Amino acid sequence: MTSGCACSEHSVAPALERVEVVANDRIASGVGLIVLHAPRTATAVRPGQFVHLRIARDSAHLLRRPFSIHRVRGERIEILYQVLGAGTRLLAERGAGEEMDLVGPLGHGWEIPPGIAHALLVAGGLGAAPLGMLAEELATRGVAVTVALGAPTEERLIARDLFENVARRFETATDDGSCGAAGFVTGVCETLLADEALDLVYTCGPEPMQRIVAAQAADAGVPCQVSLERLMACGIGVCLSCVVPTSEGQKRACVDGPVFDAATLMWDRPEIR
Ligand SMILES: Cc1cc2nc3c(=O)[nH]c(=O)nc-3n(C[C@H](O)[C@H](O)[C@H](O)COP(=O)(O)OP(=O)(O)OC[C@H]3O[C@@H](n4cnc5c(N)ncnc54)[C@H](O)[C@@H]3O)c2cc1C
Ligand code: FES
Repeated sequence: MTSGCACSEHSVAPALERVEVVANDRIASGVGLIVLHAPRTATAVRPGQFVHLRIARDSAHLLRRPFSIHRVRGERIEILYQVLGAGTRLLAERGAGEEMDLVGPLGHGWEIPPGIAHALLVAGGLGAAPLGMLAEELATRGVAVTVALGAPTEERLIARDLFENVARRFETATDDGSCGAAGFVTGVCETLLADEALDLVYTCGPEPMQRIVAAQAADAGVPCQVSLERLMACGIGVCLSCVVPTSEGQKRACVDGPVFDAATLMWDRPEIR
């Protein structure tokens, strides 16, 4: 990765933290936003890092689930989640005042190299989750932010308000054409790479989308960082369930990532879907 990044150099060691649910709301079909009172994590987390959340204490939910921090507000952290299986179904049922615990902050987040003036953020679906805090951090540092946000329908454009507020240019794409360009967000990305003078592309979303964005950025000669979601058991680099093939050898997404320099990833290998 590019050297001189404030984010990764200043990361704080992960710890176990007992947290309390402040609010938990459905924001789109199958998508929720949970707000947790988590003072230690809120202070320590850097954009692109994640937490390993134990959703319940019963034996059916012993394994922690990894979630990106979407936003921090004071002592509270916000997590956007998609209901997929047993764990996230249970998460959707947690209410204000209930307690959980997490381990975090974990992983190597987005790097913000000194001197960059203009960044493009490309989010597909829930890929918006780890980009929210990054967009706010970039804007705070005076970096111009352009955002391309994609989803199947307008209702599924996640975190639209946050991105609209911080972005100098904000574009959307929906599969059904209900908002913005009709089609995939990669079409918008290609246009923006041609239109704008960009120093860096940050992307998160389905891996086929990220693969295309990485190729488009490479063609345009712009560095690109991607955040990969892997199945994760331990979250602390021990179990090797999350390895990713890179030009620098096998890397563990939980500690070496989840953010990687797209140019180092071996996109043709089957381990990258
Ligand atoms: C670093 C990281 C950050 C993440 N951030 C978010 C986030 O901000 N919001 C969010 O909604 N989800 C996020 N995920 C994915 C999230 O961890 C899974 O969706 C969740 O663990 C599913 O739990 P479950 O018990 O509901 O589903 P399960 O019953 O465990 O699985 C349901 C389905 O989801 C798939 N799945 C399970 N875990 C993962 C995973 N880690 N990655 C990809 N697919 C998975 C399974 O293969 C299965 O098809 C992140 C994953 C990683 C690795
Ligand atoms: S999840 Fe165990 S090594 Fe990454």
